Amino acid sequence: MAALKTPAEIDQMRAAGRFVAGVLTSLRDLDAHAHRMIDQAGARSVYLGYHPSFGAMPYPGVLCTSVNDAALHGLPSDRVLADGDVLSIDFAAEVDGWVADSALTFQLGTPDPDAQRLIALTDEALAAGIAQARPGNRMGDISAAIGEIGRAAGFGINADFGGHGVGRTMHEEPHVPNVGRRGTGLKLRPGLVIAIEPWFMAGGDGYTVDPDGWTIRTADGSLAAHAEHTVAITADGPVVLTARD
Ligand code: MF3
Ligand code: CO
Repeated sequence: MAALKTPAEIDQMRAAGRFVAGVLTSLRDLDAHAHRMIDQAGARSVYLGYHPSFGAMPYPGVLCTSVNDAALHGLPSDRVLADGDVLSIDFAAEVDGWVADSALTFQLGTPDPDAQRLIALTDEALAAGIAQARPGNRMGDISAAIGEIGRAAGFGINADFGGHGVGRTMHEEPHVPNVGRRGTGLKLRPGLVIAIEPWFMAGGDGYTVDPDGWTIRTADGSLAAHAEHTVAITADGPVVLTARD
């Protein structure tokens, strides 16, 4: 027989419920989980303390957690996630002296068709970019594959932030733009390792930066999505080093 709780006991259980919900839902809690996993693996965060000139302070977490209109570099805060939120998590870490960088976006709870379409096409653009990451092609083939999907869908794209080389450090040459022309740019050769990271906005091309210098938001408040993999270009084609399967 299942033990029934009295109304008073159910009241007493509220604190435990709130605690569990909080551990699972605040952005800072997600960051703490990731930090623990980094420590357990003997890995090193490449975000924590990272301080490029645009940041008002060194980066305070090990994850970028960008919600809804935040597209990139959202700081882990006490914000508690809600049903329908669109969350992008971007994570990079160093293991044995080498860095990998990856991001994904998903919607919590009740799916909204417009949000699902934005997320699905961002993933599709990443896959299309990866498919072009082979010897004989040029950087413009990756960029064009990404940009064409975003433009055809009517999404906003801003080229100020894009992908990058990755290896001993997180951000290396070359830049991997999210728009471009086929057949132009750097020749792709075996041994080139790049982070490919399309990010699309449901509205226009404009973005704003929060006073923290980090958080990039859509200028019109529309949703944004971001997807990223670290990809090695080999003689046999692209190898996705951050594949989750
Ligand atoms: N991983 C992001 C990128 O894809 C950059 C994170 S910036 C940091 O390039 F400050 F959070 F580290
Ligand atoms: Co990156």
